[in-house]
Amino acid sequence: MLRDPAEYLMGQQSRYGPISAWNPRRPRHVFAFGPEYLRQIFAEPEIFVADSFREVRIPTDTSFYRLTNGLLRRNGEPHRSHRRLMQPTFTARRVQVYRETVTEAVESVLGRHRAGETVPLHDELAHLIMLIAMRTVFDLDAPDDVGRLQGLIARLLKSAASPMTLLLPYDLPRSSFRNALRTSDEIEAILLAMIRQRKADGASGRDVLSRLVAAEDEDGTRLTEEELVGEAYTAFCHDSSTASLLWTLLLLDQHPAVYMDVVDELKAVLGGDAPDADQLGRLPLLDAVLKESLRLLPPAPMLMRYTASPTRLGDYRLPTGAMVFFSPYVTHRMPDVFPDPLRFDPSRWEKANPSAYEYLPFGAGSHNCVGRHFAMLEMKSILAVLLQRFRPSLADGTTVNRAMRVSLVPSHGLPMRLLPSGSSAPAASLQGNIRDSVRLP
Ligand code: HEM
Repeated sequence: MLRDPAEYLMGQQSRYGPISAWNPRRPRHVFAFGPEYLRQIFAEPEIFVADSFREVRIPTDTSFYRLTNGLLRRNGEPHRSHRRLMQPTFTARRVQVYRETVTEAVESVLGRHRAGETVPLHDELAHLIMLIAMRTVFDLDAPDDVGRLQGLIARLLKSAASPMTLLLPYDLPRSSFRNALRTSDEIEAILLAMIRQRKADGASGRDVLSRLVAAEDEDGTRLTEEELVGEAYTAFCHDSSTASLLWTLLLLDQHPAVYMDVVDELKAVLGGDAPDADQLGRLPLLDAVLKESLRLLPPAPMLMRYTASPTRLGDYRLPTGAMVFFSPYVTHRMPDVFPDPLRFDPSRWEKANPSAYEYLPFGAGSHNCVGRHFAMLEMKSILAVLLQRFRPSLADGTTVNRAMRVSLVPSHGLPMRLLPSGSSAPAASLQGNIRDSVRLP
């Protein structure tokens, strides 16, 4: 289930229907896929609580715990008050202040490439997204600082995502858990220094960290240093955006007619330039392509809640502490909501109007993604520049499997040849289990 949740959860749903349990007599692990159950889960956040890292059993007095102690672990009033403090920084209008920073970063990374090169797109996009996060969240630009923090965060993500960290959460020599603890110490020290610097400067900058340091509730409450560490780190992790961009480029390679239409739209509206705020809202096909990509290959294919008290879900009586799994990946394939669900068809978004419980790549309810507007801004800006310059093309015979590395990503990265933009190229013939996720030529 952890290795390939998409396949596991599809199997669970097709064998047992919209709600099931590993042990129906003692339902401690429940799978809920239908919109009616999701509605209940999201409507009762005091009962179905989020606690993203509970299974890793991180000691609470460690920096590893404090870094992961952001919104996704909070519930009730502490969650609401942190959301109130964070939300103003991430509204659709507010994130526009980061547009230029995003565009500059895109130029600096994509400007290095020429048509004809073959590029490991996973590495390149991950680097670009990390650079954007560094600049927008921490206002870091100096290559040494960026490189150091980038290396540490990559190390932490790798050890935190290792199954050994889950299975052996002990501070033992050479263990991935110890590696996560030590790396977290270094990251926390850097974050604390930045937070103190912002406080000393009066937090007047427009980077996300300054906004969070300055954020004040109506009654004057501010986030403590410890809370700032957790929230800043949570707001920094943009790996879902990298995942989503990769899947989108794969889907465009596989649907050359859609690719051509997107490039026509981009060139007509932008004439080769990066989009400004107004133009970003005038790219309906690009918007539909991203929505369709997030439908078929949501970076978070499986989400989870714990029951904080005994409750009922469907026919099940759940005890306190039951784990309830649900899946945007499975729910997005319900044929009554999305006819011919395995087909990549951006035009379905001209009419489709699913509810928040039928289409939820950014989650739903009180924990829905606070960074969704930011994510859409950065993904659209990157695609707009990239696709007006190149036609990324996969080689025939490439194997693409789903892999869970924090987010759902293509297993071997995506080595793609950058042809000149607008080149007509047939869809590559691909192998691998991606063919179960989406109908490909
Ligand atoms: C394509 C990109 C992204 C996707 C698909 C995505 C998806 C999600 C999902 C599914 C959740 C809900 C998790 C749950 O209910 O358990 C979530 C929450 C969250 N996301 Fe994103 N996310 C993306 C980008 C971002 C970015 C760029 C940021 C930061 C700027 C961000 C910050 C957050 C935060 C802080 C939460 C926790 C919200 C809360 O618990 O109240 N996300 N995201």
